[in-house]
Order: sequence, then structure tokens, then C-alpha cells
Amino acid sequence: MTGLGLGFDSPLQPLLERLKDYGQEDAFALWDELSPEERELLIRDIEALDLPRVDRIIRCSLRSQELPKAAIEPVPDASISTFEDRTPEERGRWWKMGLKAISEGKLAVLLLSGGQGTRLGSSDPKGCFNIGLPSGKSLFQLQAERILCVQRLAAQSISEGTTAFVPIHWYIMTSPFTDDATRKFFESHKYFGLEADQVTFFQQGTIPCVSKDGRFIMETAYRVAKAPDGNGGVYSALKSSRLLEDMAMRGVRYLDCYGVDNALVRVADPSFLGYFIDKGVAAAAKVVRKAYPQEKVGVFVQRGKGGPLSVLEYSEMDPSLACAINQETGRLRFCWSNVCLHMFTLDFLNQVANGLEKDSIYHLAEKKIPSIHGYTMGLKLEQFIFDAFPYAPSTALFEALREEEFAPVKNASGSSYDTPESARLLLLRLHTRWMVAAGGFLTHSVPLYNTGVEISPLVSYAGENLEAICRGRTFHAPCEISF
Ligand code: UD1
Repeated sequence: MTGLGLGFDSPLQPLLERLKDYGQEDAFALWDELSPEERELLIRDIEALDLPRVDRIIRCSLRSQELPKAAIEPVPDASISTFEDRTPEERGRWWKMGLKAISEGKLAVLLLSGGQGTRLGSSDPKGCFNIGLPSGKSLFQLQAERILCVQRLAAQSISEGTTAFVPIHWYIMTSPFTDDATRKFFESHKYFGLEADQVTFFQQGTIPCVSKDGRFIMETAYRVAKAPDGNGGVYSALKSSRLLEDMAMRGVRYLDCYGVDNALVRVADPSFLGYFIDKGVAAAAKVVRKAYPQEKVGVFVQRGKGGPLSVLEYSEMDPSLACAINQETGRLRFCWSNVCLHMFTLDFLNQVANGLEKDSIYHLAEKKIPSIHGYTMGLKLEQFIFDAFPYAPSTALFEALREEEFAPVKNASGSSYDTPESARLLLLRLHTRWMVAAGGFLTHSVPLYNTGVEISPLVSYAGENLEAICRGRTFHAPCEISF
């Protein structure tokens, strides 16, 4: 070979030969210019890659771009529980069923928190973000307190002396980019009142970023550029960290998986869990009606007539499909938006943890990748959590009201949508409505459209149990109502 100044007897030779087998020998292009320490780093970086797996994923994913895609159909009405179809009897029954299962320790929650939050313009993990609520709480804290509240409601729902109280276990998926800061944030905030052993952190994997012809992009002369393998990396991460066994050991039967960046997310929602158990399905998702055709949300679709439900991500949707109107209803044809909140049975998770990996088809996203030559356009490879849906033997969708459950925090302040400000206002408006419905009064010294009250999740999860605190009292916005 060897323009690299390596003899055939060099211990590096076998590694180089393996790279050549996969067409990735350019990773060593700058070898002659590296210091001994940098050479060592490069060797370790390459050796840490599972080259046959990475190569299979790159090839299958690039090839899949050329395959014809199954036709897309709207979700059949029978697959979805719409808000208006639900009877008061069903609502009450599902809430109770969910609380019962939670009190028996059958539900765990899993937070997907490995994303890099580049759109938000913050280098901290997104969950640390303070959206400017009167309380100054971070997204992590809001979620932790909702878990505490549901736990308390579940414990209260147990008739005396029947079962011992079981805390809800919280699994938090990080990535190498968010792991350290996330753990430190939880430690420094004393787990927001949760027991430390109720929280398990685990890391998702990363995968090399590649050029359009599938070659590794080098971030430095001695390191391949890598990115998290998408929130669908959760399945292989659960498997490799043996957490599915951990869940089984704890008696968990259902897993509620959700994204970090929704300020109104109903973590461990008893109603959704009750519905899920009642339906007896393997996988379900909460959906909201799409607000406008170009909204950056994935939509649930059916792949071919009678085919499985899956999500068509906004980045992969043809704009003409996004705008298509159902002539009968006058609504968008593809209107059921994914809010990144999914429920799975543990049995199904065990199946899918093997099935998805075998598929080796990852989504490709063209992004700016940091490289030796500055930022360069390249491909990130990702799996999505909803890629599991087509594998599920049975699925169902559950409509949530957008104004009650969806306040995305995606873009930096000053952008025109899905900002910390828009999320804060959605939360304040909802909580103000709860307070007024519970008999409270509001005064305000800033315009009402820009303020409201915040209700601590420790006081109320979904607007319940507020009368004792609110009836006949006047609150001056902005403020937090807490114990
Ligand atoms: C996501 C959904 C989209 C949905 C929207 C609603 C996916 C793939 N897309 O889009 O269909 O309509 O939310 O707000 O779920 N994450 C990881 N690891 C990664 C990448 C992401 O844990 O490698 C986490 C993020 O931290 C976040 C969640 O997954 O909690 C969603 O990721 P993000 O990239 O923000 O997804 P969106 O593009 O907003």
C-alpha cells in the first residue's frame, strides 16, 4: 500500500484492509500528518465501530432511497379514538383502569432525551430548558412533578390495605452529547423530589455521518463524525443495556415513551394507559389534529389499503400530500399528527428490539456536518421510534386535544412558531382555564393575551382537585399556584 508509510507487517495493516473491504480507507488519509497520540485516537475510534453492521446500514439505507414506496392512505376512522366519540363513562373507566395498573407498578415511562436540540440554539440538553414560566421550572422538572402527581393519584386510588404503593420508574435515554449534563442536572436538582433509584439513565448509540456516496465524513483527522442514531435507537439501546430485563424484573408491563420538548406532555397519563389496556393492543400513540398543512409534525398514515399504521415524517412528506383535503369533511386528508408519545407492551418491545435492527434501513437526513473542512453537507442516519409501528400485531390511536397536551418547544426565541414563548403561553392559558373552572378569579397587570397562571403539577395533573385551592380566590397573573 502504502502511501501511509506502513509496512505490510505493520499492526495497522489488518485494520486498514478491513476498512478497504468497506470502501472506508479514506479515514486514514491524513495518517502521515498525525502525531503518535492522534494516531492512537484514530485507531481506537475506528476499532470502536462495528464495521460490518455500519456498512450494512449505510448500504441498505442508501439503496432504500431508490425502492418504490407503498401508497399512502389516510388512517381509517376505526383505528382512532377521537375526543368527541368518547363517552363520559369511557373516560371515567379508562382513568380508573390506568390508575389501577400504575398502582400495581405495571407502567414505566421512558423519556427520549438524546437529541441535540440544535434548532433551539442551546448546547444544554433540551430538558434543562426553562421556558420562562413564573416558577422558572425546566422541562425536566415539569415532567418529574407530573410523575410525582400521577404516583400520588394512583396511591390514593388503592383501597386501604390491598396493595403496596409502587413508584413509577423513569428511564431516561441520553446520547453521548447529552448524558453527562443530564445526569448532573438531575443530581444538582435532587431528582426533583423523585427517589434517585427511581430514575435510570442509559445511552443511545451513535452512527457515522456519511457523504452521499456512503463514505465516512471525518470530523477531525483522527475522528469520524458521528451523530445519535435517532430516537428509534431506543430499541437497540434498551436491548444492549439489558433494560428490557430490568423492566420485566420490576413487573412492568407497559412503557410510555415520549419526547422531551412538549411543555404540556401528560407523562404516564392514566386515561391513555386505561384506553391502551382496554383495547388490548401492542402499540398506541397519542395524536392531535394537524394545525396547518406545513406544520412540522409527522402524520399517521396507513401504508397501502389495509396496511399497517405508521408515521410519515414531515421531512419525508410530499408537500402536495400535506395539503390534500378530504372532500367530504373539508379537513386535511392526513390530519392525525404524531406528538411523539407512544405506549408499548413490554412483550412487543422485546420483539421489536430484534426486528428493527435486522431491517438495517435508516432514514437519511441531509444536514450540515462538522468536518475537517468546516461544516459540510452530509447524511445523518437515524431510526425513528415510530418505525416500530408496522411490526405491531395491533395498534390504536388516541386523540388528545392540542390546547391541552401539545406545546412544542422546538425553535429559539424570536422564531415564528414552536418557541419557548408559544409553549409558555399555551401552558398559562390552559392552567388559567382550569383555575377559572375551579371557581378562581384572575387579575393581571400585563395584557391577558401574554400572561396567565401556572399550576404546579404537584397540585394538579389534568385540572383535577383544584376547587379547594381556587374557589373564591383571586390570583394575580403571572404567578404559580402551588401548595
Ligand atoms: C418529532 C417526531 C415527529 C412529531 C414531533 C412532535 C420523531 C422521529 N419525530 O419530530 O413525528 O410530529 O416530534 O413534536 O419522533 N431524540 C433522541 N435521540 C435522537 C433524536 C431525537 O432521543 O437521536 C429525541 C429528542 O430528544 C426528542 C424526541 O426524540 O425528545 C423528538 O426528536 P426531535 O428531533 O426533536 O423530533 P422532531 O423533528 O421535532
